[in-house]
Amino acid sequence: MADGMIERLSYDVVILGAGGAGLRAAIEAARPGVKVAVLSKSLLGKAHTVMAEGGMAVSFGNVDAQDCWQTHFYDTMRGGKFLNHWRMAEIFAKEAPDRVVELEQWGAVFDRTPEGKISQRAFGAHSFRRLAHVGDRTGLELIRTLEYKGIHSGFDVFQEVTATHLFQDDAGRPTGVFAYHRQSGAFCVFEAKAVVIATGGWGRMYKVTSNSWESTGEGAALAMRAGAEMKDMEMVQFHPTGMVWPPGVRGLLVTEGVRGEGGILLNSEGERFMLRYDPEKKDLSSRDIVARSIYKEVQAGRGSPHGGAFLDITHRGADFIRRKLPNMYDQYLSLADIDITKQPFEVAPTIHYTMGGISVDPETAATNLEGLFAAGESACGLHGANRLGGNSLTDLLVFGRRAGIAARDYAAGRTKASAPSDSAVADAEARALAPLGKTGGESPYQLHRELQEVMGEHAAISRSRELGEAGLGKLEEIKERTKRLSAPGSRMYNPGWHATFELQAMVLLAEAILQGSLWREESRGAHWRLDFPDADDQGFGKLNSICRQDGTKITLSTQPVPEMPEELAALFSSGHMPVREGTDQGGHS
Ligand code: FUM
Repeated sequence: MADGMIERLSYDVVILGAGGAGLRAAIEAARPGVKVAVLSKSLLGKAHTVMAEGGMAVSFGNVDAQDCWQTHFYDTMRGGKFLNHWRMAEIFAKEAPDRVVELEQWGAVFDRTPEGKISQRAFGAHSFRRLAHVGDRTGLELIRTLEYKGIHSGFDVFQEVTATHLFQDDAGRPTGVFAYHRQSGAFCVFEAKAVVIATGGWGRMYKVTSNSWESTGEGAALAMRAGAEMKDMEMVQFHPTGMVWPPGVRGLLVTEGVRGEGGILLNSEGERFMLRYDPEKKDLSSRDIVARSIYKEVQAGRGSPHGGAFLDITHRGADFIRRKLPNMYDQYLSLADIDITKQPFEVAPTIHYTMGGISVDPETAATNLEGLFAAGESACGLHGANRLGGNSLTDLLVFGRRAGIAARDYAAGRTKASAPSDSAVADAEARALAPLGKTGGESPYQLHRELQEVMGEHAAISRSRELGEAGLGKLEEIKERTKRLSAPGSRMYNPGWHATFELQAMVLLAEAILQGSLWREESRGAHWRLDFPDADDQGFGKLNSICRQDGTKITLSTQPVPEMPEELAALFSSGHMPVREGTDQGGHS
């Protein structure tokens, strides 16, 4: 490639993101005659997917025979406080078993029951032991398996390549993306007939998070700038248990599998406080409730020394713990010098997942922009106001596959996609280059730190109008300063330059979160308003928030939450939980 020339590559389907959703979509999209590219800003295998450690939820009923898709659907809707799209939850619960069996056929090695079936463990707010797992490394096994399957599926993978712009034709349909190679700084245009966004969430806009450096939301921001509708952005999940100490690992995930295997939460007085907050589900209540309960204990002066709670699983014995939770055992021993088989350890809530995201059609994962699809954490609809642990891995499989099929079919029907024009490419190039070579501007690292402070103070576990308004004011200042972002140095190996794209994405998405959390004047799931502590089932509870970028502003509108058909609504009105036909009522103990 001559110096200054921008390489153009032509594909039918371009998938942004190589986590579980992106790889699953690619496997489905890549069929003979269909050219598919997967762009990963990181390295293959290094996705937040691996941070869903404890398992993937699926109603096999291998351990609790009463489980069935209806119970999984019931739990998912109740957990999401009915803000979920019912059809997404229905498809999800019905298709999850096939997707997990398929994964096993592709080589995933699950833990087994004594009879040799896939073993299933308990997790928060699942009525039955439902999580198929591989010790506490389930997400890693999922990625490993999809990578292996992917090798034989015939798609191209571009590692350490970040997309900064989505090209569109006059009708708003994607025609490709502008991207750069992070190592060399070289630009590249990937022409495409269909684009799938599978770039995960944006937890890095918070300081205390389980998310790795990749989760900065560029894919979602790119879609939003192109006109995609963003739904329920106010819904951001705190996982109840992250590491607290030492400070360098604060936020690192402590899998819910610890509680699933019998771990209990204690306050500084040795009290099992979850008995007070949720006497029925106790430590395995839903994440929003457990996270809030720990927060309340700390506020009441009953927290652990570093501002959390204690988690104790010593009663299960050292052999059991090392076998079922090998990662947790190693993690605490190597990072905190604590042997979890011998003593309780400190945990505290950590930002883990963004339930809000790009609004998609349940059947096809299509966005409101023809030809643009989204799946996984960057998409929204399945989890409502609170995602149940273990539902994300199966989400990636079910809707990653659907997005891949729909993108492939769409591309096949679009014979005359126009290529991005030279002038559109030149504009995208100029925008990407803008922060480079500027002197005396704003540092993206400094602004990122300030953004994390704002989000941690103004859009965290407890919210209010006062907090939200003040947060928006501070964010406005940060946004203004992003106009003067500068990244000294050249295009080669320049992390400061990369950070400018990440920051711009996070600032955009942060504004949508703050706007949504100000608008929703009720408490629902992960969204807890101190000034509106109750759920408003007849008002806000019947509405999804929709944010759109409108010039330089974000506008918020609402959509009615889609109404469930009668036969599904009856599952909730009958007064008892649905169970597999021919089995007895009653969850696990
Ligand atoms: O706690 C965990 O293992 C996380 C699982 C999930 O987020 O689904």
